[in-house]
Order: sequence, then structure tokens, then C-alpha cells
Amino acid sequence: MAHNLLAGKKGIIFGALDENSIAWKVALKAKEEGASFTLTNAPIALRMGKINELAEKCDAKVIPADATLVEDIEKLYKETQEVLGGNLDFILHSIGMSPNVRKGREYGDLNYDWFLKTLDISGLSFHKIMQVAEKMDIMNEWGSILALTYIAAQRTFPDYSDMAQAKAVLESIARSYGYRFAKLKNVRVNTISQSPTKTTAGTGISGFDVFFDYADKMSPLGNATAEDCANYVIAMFSDLTRMVTMQNLMHDGGFSSSGISEEIIEELSK
Ligand SMILES: NC(=O)c1ccc[n+]([C@@H]2O[C@H](COP(=O)([O-])OP(=O)(O)OC[C@H]3O[C@@H](n4cnc5c(N)ncnc54)[C@H](O)[C@@H]3O)[C@@H](O)[C@H]2O)c1
Repeated sequence: MAHNLLAGKKGIIFGALDENSIAWKVALKAKEEGASFTLTNAPIALRMGKINELAEKCDAKVIPADATLVEDIEKLYKETQEVLGGNLDFILHSIGMSPNVRKGREYGDLNYDWFLKTLDISGLSFHKIMQVAEKMDIMNEWGSILALTYIAAQRTFPDYSDMAQAKAVLESIARSYGYRFAKLKNVRVNTISQSPTKTTAGTGISGFDVFFDYADKMSPLGNATAEDCANYVIAMFSDLTRMVTMQNLMHDGGFSSSGISEEIIEELSK
């Protein structure tokens, strides 16, 4: 059921790859709630062509941009301003990729050029998105900027590898830029720390199915789905959360506050 929470709001959604993507679900809900926006992804991801289905449903233009390239982000913002006819109220950064994880490199045998790529794509790109937004003065007063993260920034999940460092950078950037953007334009900046979710990025981590089930059993409410995550993102883009900023917001069914659960005890007692 829609509540018109984003009526009249304009934005950009980074990272919808296919119908499993968290950004895909966010786009559908943002449309339902009355927002207008552009969709963007890396040119190589757009070649899959799936995003055009989403664009049609959302009546949104797709604009290619590699989020690690400042000139791509500048072009994206300029075109978005033209298409939407004004400045932005929200931006979603839903981007993550590690060449080391993708190519199965052990944590004790990382390729450092790839490590830097991981940090750039999954962490620094968030800074770039905000720095270009500041320089082009593209955000409206009381706007909301969000990135998605994972609890491996705080606790060790061995197979998450160098993505853990990228997420720690991402969350730290949210605090530092959150301070700056609040002072500049009353814009809030937060990260949402989401449960394991069955998407292309998620299932790329080896052992994903096991830690998906483990997290589900450890969380008193169970794992939060991509759909649940999209609802939270919409709430964070709405005017109902204007004073929330510089936070890493846990969206994990209680996982981060649980020591052990009855389900895990039962499992280990077998
Ligand atoms: N799936 C999970 O278990 C989970 C859990 C917590 C957080 N997250 C985070 O949620 C976010 C979205 O991931 P998802 O799970 O929906 O998977 P996904 O694979 O659908 O989305 C990741 C997106 O990043 C994009 N991307 C990669 N390199 C890029 C670049 N250089 N420029 C622009 N875009 C680029 C991909 O094309 C893809 O659309 C990521 O930040 C991910 O780390 C996922």
C-alpha cells in the first residue's frame, strides 16, 4: 500500500542490476510513493539490458555512469537535472564489487591492485558521489543520501575478504560527509546495514548460503529481505526521518544485538 511518502521528490538510484537487486526494489517502491528519478549503473552492467525493463515500469531514464569516475558522475548529474527539471532530494548508493572476491583470492593472497579497485568501487565512490553533488550544488535542502552496507565492517566474516575494509570506509565516509552536508544544506547521510540477501553481489561471496541460514537463525525476526530493505530506504528518503544523520542503521532482524539464539543452540545440540 502506497502512502505518497515521496510525492514530488526527485532522485538518482545507483545499482539496479536485475530484479533481485536491492536497488531494483527501491526503484519500484520509490515510483509507487510518487518519486521521479533516473537509474544508473556501470556501462558494463547496462549491457545486460535488464535495467530497461525496470526503466519502463518506473518511467525513468537510464544514464550510464561508472561510479569510480568523477567525469561520469558529473555527466549523470547534468543529464538528471535536465530530465527531472530540477535538483535532487535523494540519492541511493547501492554498489559493491570486489575483484578479489569475484576471482576467489584468499585473504592471505590478495592482489593489491584489485584491493584498491574494491575500495574505489565499494567505498570511495560514495565520497565521489557526494563531492560532485556538493560542487555542482545538486542537492535540495533537507535531502537524504544513503548507501548500503554490511556488518562485516564491524565483525569478521572470513569470506567477505577485502569488502569488509571497503564497507568500513563507506560507513566512515557517511559520518564525515554527513557532518559536512548537514552544515551545508541540511542534507542527511546514512548507511543501512542490511541482512544477507540473495542478489548477484550477495551470492558472489563463497559460503553465502550457509551464512544466510545462520543469520536467519540468529536473528529473532529472521533475515530482512530486499523488499523490507526497500521499505526502510523509502522511510529514510521521506520527510519522516529528517533528523537522522551520520548513522549506520542496522536493518537485520535483530542479528547485531543477538549473542545466540534457541535455533542455533538446537542446531549445535544435534
Ligand atoms: N546482498 C547482500 O547480502 C547484501 C548485504 C548487505 C549489503 N549489501 C549491499 O547492497 C548493495 C547492493 O547490492 P545487491 O545485493 O543489491 O547486489 P547487486 O549485485 O544487485 O548490486 C550491486 C551493484 O553494483 C553495481 N556496480 C558494480 N561496480 C560498479 C561501478 N563501478 N559503478 C557503478 N555501479 C557498479 C553493479 O552493477 C550492481 O548493480 C551493495 O552495496 C552491497 O554490498 C548487500
